[in-house]
Amino acid sequence: MAILITGGAGFIGSHTVVELQNAGYEVVVIDNLSNSSEASLKRVEEITGKPVRFYKTDILDREGLEAVFEKETIDSCIHFAGLKAVGESVAKPWEYYHNNIAGTLTLLDVMRKHGVKNIVFSSSATVYGTPAVIPVTEDCPKGEITNPYGQTKGMLEQILTDIQKADEEWNVILLRYFNPIGAHKSGKIGENPNGIPNNLMPYITQVAVGKLKELGVFGNDYDTPDGTGVRDYIHVVDLAKGHVRAIEKIKENPGLKIYNLGTGKGYSVLDIVKTFEEATGVKIPYVIKARRPGDIACNYADPSLAKKELHWEAENGLREMCEDAWRWQSNNPNGFEES
Ligand code: NAD
Ligand code: WQD
Repeated sequence: MAILITGGAGFIGSHTVVELQNAGYEVVVIDNLSNSSEASLKRVEEITGKPVRFYKTDILDREGLEAVFEKETIDSCIHFAGLKAVGESVAKPWEYYHNNIAGTLTLLDVMRKHGVKNIVFSSSATVYGTPAVIPVTEDCPKGEITNPYGQTKGMLEQILTDIQKADEEWNVILLRYFNPIGAHKSGKIGENPNGIPNNLMPYITQVAVGKLKELGVFGNDYDTPDGTGVRDYIHVVDLAKGHVRAIEKIKENPGLKIYNLGTGKGYSVLDIVKTFEEATGVKIPYVIKARRPGDIACNYADPSLAKKELHWEAENGLREMCEDAWRWQSNNPNGFEES
């Protein structure tokens, strides 16, 4: 019996394939490679010493999915596949709704046709909008979501909730990630954004490697200790291990479950810059810029429910996240291109 990983060639997916294989699970990956490279899976094979069964398939392609479900014996699915760039989603809402919503509906239909009704879904702390309480607990009401990408996460949470309510054979775990950064300790896999990075850590590593001149810090007048935005950064390997725990528990705790995956600690943009410099010895020049539209001042998780029920807790601190992100970027200045 295998775990189907949609979007498994991507940043979080590839790290999760490593952790699942290391834990002894059989894994099947599908990805359309729209935001990733098959080279990441070759690197996964180098890390684990095990082959990865990969199908270049789109989750919108019903026949392609059917073929995978007919060939493989799938037990559960971890569903990472989706478009994820906030700014791009504002410019291309149709593409985001089509890919993320229609793609997931197609996947769910093929899954139920084949009697596969266990799914772990990649949701996001973005569903809390401006959180009503900090640290954010899972019962915090969903807030106003300001972009189509975030809307797809909120909508897909609702769709999965309604499907599970109507058919109790479904077991659904919604994982709300905070800010995944870092990379595998081997330096072989990591985040590989197309073009200029939108997110803080890949921007910093690209400044450090000399591809970008300086970091723009989006606002220093927030109501936070140093005025810059505060987030809950989580090491991608810890996040990946959270998925292994979710898969272990999905049948033990049936029904619908929601977990925050974060560390419970908030760090500002300037904390990240300082820790990165200390961890790597590389200076990050920065300039203060205007606030980025749609940003909130502060967001970090209360991760205690995941600790209690999944027996999962983040292990890596910010320094390790910086060291590992830098090892990946400095070993692979052009991402997977050279492999
Ligand atoms: P990623 O872009 O690296 O990985 C997503 C993968 O899905 C890519 O490999 C892409 O090629 C694939 N994909 C996209 N559309 C597809 C389709 N129609 N069919 C098949 N494959 C498709 O992103 P990531 O950072 O690894 O994120 C994984 C998931 O976690 C996404 O759903 C994302 O929205 C969610 N998430 C990410 C973050 C974050 O900050 N990285 C935070 C919260 C939630
Ligand atoms: C972090 C902090 C910025 C870049 C986004 C999505 C969210 C989730 C994770 C998927 C903020 C500041 C950033 C830069 C900066 N993704 N910053 N200069 O915005 O918390 O979350 O990724 O679900 O949905 O919105 O992450 O890394 O973009 O920003 O000053 O060049 O860094 O203002 O305070 P964010 P981020």
